[in-house]
Amino acid sequence: MPLVTYEQERPWAGKIAAAVEMKMMPPWFADPRYGHFANDPSLSEEQIATIAAWADAGAPAGDARDAPAPPEWSEGWNIPQPDAVVKMPKPVQIPARGEVEYTYEIVATHFTEDKWVQMAEVRPSSAAHVHHAVVYIRPPDSAWLRHAPVGEPFTASMLNDPEERRRAHETTSDLLLVYAPGSAPDRWADGMAKFVPAGSDLVFQMHYTTNGEAASDETSAGLVFAKKPPKQRVITLQLNNHALVIPPGAEDFRVEVQGTLPNDATLLSLFPHMHLRGKRFEYDIVHDDGNVETLLRVNYHFHWQLSYKLAEPRELKAGTKLRAVAWYDNSKNNPHNPDPEKTVTWGDQTSQEMMVGFFDVAVPAGMDKWQYFIRRREN
Ligand code: HEM
Repeated sequence: MPLVTYEQERPWAGKIAAAVEMKMMPPWFADPRYGHFANDPSLSEEQIATIAAWADAGAPAGDARDAPAPPEWSEGWNIPQPDAVVKMPKPVQIPARGEVEYTYEIVATHFTEDKWVQMAEVRPSSAAHVHHAVVYIRPPDSAWLRHAPVGEPFTASMLNDPEERRRAHETTSDLLLVYAPGSAPDRWADGMAKFVPAGSDLVFQMHYTTNGEAASDETSAGLVFAKKPPKQRVITLQLNNHALVIPPGAEDFRVEVQGTLPNDATLLSLFPHMHLRGKRFEYDIVHDDGNVETLLRVNYHFHWQLSYKLAEPRELKAGTKLRAVAWYDNSKNNPHNPDPEKTVTWGDQTSQEMMVGFFDVAVPAGMDKWQYFIRRREN
C-alpha cells in the first residue's frame, strides 16, 4: 500500500477514512490519561474530520501548487548517511516453515577508539522474515558468549559449552537498539549517546519467523557518531519477571516487578514487551508515601512493539522505586491466543510469554550499566 503519490493514495481513500475514524491508524496504544509522548502520532478530532470529509468528497487532488516537496531518501537509511555500517558478514538461511530458534551473529566492529553513537538504525535484508532484532554492544572485557563463533550465525543449542548454552540470552551488555516491524531508528538528543567501547562487538540477536518462503537475511546496523563526546550516556535497563505462570483461561492475569534506582537518572523512553497473550502494560513510580504515579499504560497489541518516548524527559532521583505491571489474557476471548488450555510460562517463542519493561535512561557519561540497577521480583 504505497502512499507516496496522490495516484497511489486515491484508491485507498475510503479505507483511510475508516482506519482513522476507528483510531486504528496511525497505530498508538498509550492510554491518553497517562503521560505525554514525543512520538504520539494520534490525529486530532479536527484532523480526522478533515480526512473523512476529503474521502466523502471523492478524494479530490487539491491544488498541486500547495503540495509539499517530495521527501528525499538517503540511500535506504532513514537516519543521515551512517558513519559506520556494521553488517552480518554471513547470511542466515531461513527455512520456509517451522519455528526458528533465536539466531545470533557476533560482528566485530574493529573500532580502535571509543565511539559515541547518536543515531542508530537496523536494516534487515529480508524484513518479511524478521520478527525482531536486538543489537547488543559487547565490550571487549565481557565474558558473554566468549566461546561462540564470531562472524557466523549460530543458535544457543549449537554452542559446545553447556553453561554458555544455558545462559546465551543472559547478558549485562547494553542494548544498542531494538528493531521490530514499524519501529523507528533511535536518535538521541544532542549531549546524549550510546557508548561503544573500542574493540567492542555488536551481537545481533535475531528472531526470524517463517512465512512459507525460504530466504536468507543479512541484517545491518547503521551508526551515526556524535560530533563531540556527550555529557550523558544512554543506557537501556529492563524490569523483567521471568517467574510468570499464567493459568489456562485466565482473562486478566497480573504480573509485577519492582526495582530501585541506585543513582540519579533521566528517564527518556519506555518499551513494553510481551507476546500474544499480552493485554495491558503499565510503568509506575511508587512514591514513599505509597502513592502510585502511572507513567504509561499501554493497551497492548502484540503486532505493534512500540517505544514510548517521553515528551519531557523525567529526572529520577536515586532511590526511586519503579514498577512494571503486565496483564495477560489467556482466555479464548483473546483472538491472538494460540491455546487457551495451556499454562503459560516464560519463553522465546510467541506461544510462550515474556514480561519485559525496557526503559532508556540518560546517566553521567562515565557511569557503567552493570552497576546501575537493583531488582526485586514479585508475582
Ligand atoms: C494517518 C496515518 C495513517 C493512515 C491514514 C494509515 C492507513 C492505513 C489503512 C487504510 C490500513 C488498512 C489497509 C487495509 O485495509 O488493507 C492500514 C494498515 C496498516 N498500517 Fe497504516 N496508516 C497510517 C499510519 C501508519 C503508520 C505510522 C504505520 C507504521 C508505523 C502504519 C502501518 C500499517 C500496517 C503495518 C498496516 C497493516 C495492519 C494489519 O494488517 O493488521 N500505518 N493503514
